[in-house]
Amino acid sequence: MAVRNIFKAGDDVLRKRSRPVQVIDRRIRTLLDDMAQTMYAADGAGLAAPQVGILRRVVVIDVGEGLVELINPEILSTEGSQINPEGCLSIPGRRCTVERPQKVVVRAYDRNGDEIEVTGEGFMAMAICHEIDHLDGILYTDKMIEDVTDKENEEAAK
Ligand code: NI
Repeated sequence: MAVRNIFKAGDDVLRKRSRPVQVIDRRIRTLLDDMAQTMYAADGAGLAAPQVGILRRVVVIDVGEGLVELINPEILSTEGSQINPEGCLSIPGRRCTVERPQKVVVRAYDRNGDEIEVTGEGFMAMAICHEIDHLDGILYTDKMIEDVTDKENEEAAK
């Protein structure tokens, strides 16, 4: 396992559409391992493959409920909405509010090639949508309602 370099906003790789994984082999499992290690090392809640320069539809998420690995994720349904601040390891030092579904159901493949269905609510729903957006070259700042970076920094300084 290895911590990989995280590409930052401004790099073209973050704006490209990732291709589906055709074969879940050792290379993909190594990518999953490295992505999880990279995410934890950076203290993040999610990471998508294009953020480490790999244009494949692979994401890892851990919102404090354990590691979730999604290969070729597809959103099956969404419910409700929430507006909360988001951050991104590719856009350090910044947080903006974004509207997301309150609940999402996603279908994907796991590292063994088995089809899985994951239901996420609240923060997990936000994370799933944020990471899947990365696979389509979308950054959360494209959808931002309000930049809360300064406000939060002021609050933290009090
Ligand atoms: Ni991100």
